[in-house]
Amino acid sequence: MGTSRSCGRVEGRAQLIGEAETRVSEPSHGGSASPERWLRSYGRRKGRKLSQHQSELLSRGLTTCKVDMSRQLRAEELAGFFSELVSEVWLEIGFGAGEHLIWQAEQNPHAGLIGAEPYVNGVVAALSTLEARGLGGRIKIHPEDAISLLNWLPEASLSRAFVLFPDPWPKKRHRERRVFSPLLLEKLGRLLRPGAELRFASDIADYAEAAMEHANAHPDFEVVQIFTSADRSSAPDWPVTRYEQKASKEGRSSTFISMRRCV
Ligand SMILES: C[S@@+](CC[C@H](N)C(=O)[O-])C[C@H]1O[C@@H](n2cnc3c(N)ncnc32)[C@H](O)[C@@H]1O
Repeated sequence: MGTSRSCGRVEGRAQLIGEAETRVSEPSHGGSASPERWLRSYGRRKGRKLSQHQSELLSRGLTTCKVDMSRQLRAEELAGFFSELVSEVWLEIGFGAGEHLIWQAEQNPHAGLIGAEPYVNGVVAALSTLEARGLGGRIKIHPEDAISLLNWLPEASLSRAFVLFPDPWPKKRHRERRVFSPLLLEKLGRLLRPGAELRFASDIADYAEAAMEHANAHPDFEVVQIFTSADRSSAPDWPVTRYEQKASKEGRSSTFISMRRCV
């Protein structure tokens, strides 16, 4: 199933500079006038205690792969951030153990990938694979909540972004913790280049519906494709992630949404 809409532009939108857990006072576009906050959207930061080998891997890996936010960059400088030559920079928020991040890096040698993930054991798993596969020159890791990265990245510097199976926060009172929100779209609207793709997936039907609504309500984005697990083969460059596998084992269908940053 596919759908599309034209993108309206709103002049003079306020630039948002929210920090984690801070209140953003100005609504940036038409629609809800309620203020939005960037809340903690992840569960635990640590799982099983790291072995000595894993601790060493973490510190060695982050020495070379951690995103260095010590100075502000211009959009055209971001590609030079990677030790290998890349022509595009892609972002994944919440990469888990990094399977999708690494798959995309291997399939797309022209792209440098930045992954944000606060779960330390996931970061270690990703560093282990990327080191073994020699991908350290094209992958950067932000081992934290994505918000500080989103606020640091230069405007119009990203050619693609992924938010795949974000924590579902199924209880109604926790919904505002969902990372895929109008505020995230505001941030990504600033960071993505015109025409850039934003991919979202979830096995939680009302999260996928909300994601669609947020995209449809936002002047910077249009929805270009929606499909479910039944049509999985329609996107061969969209590999199955660990959480998608878990959902299908448990009998839940997933929804996949491709959006475009309007030109
Ligand atoms: C349900 S897991 C999905 C992992 C992976 N994308 C997959 O599909 O297998 C969601 C991940 O998003 C991460 N996450 C949640 N909020 C985040 C945030 N604000 N910034 C970066 N990562 C976040 C969590 O730590 C968790 O690893």
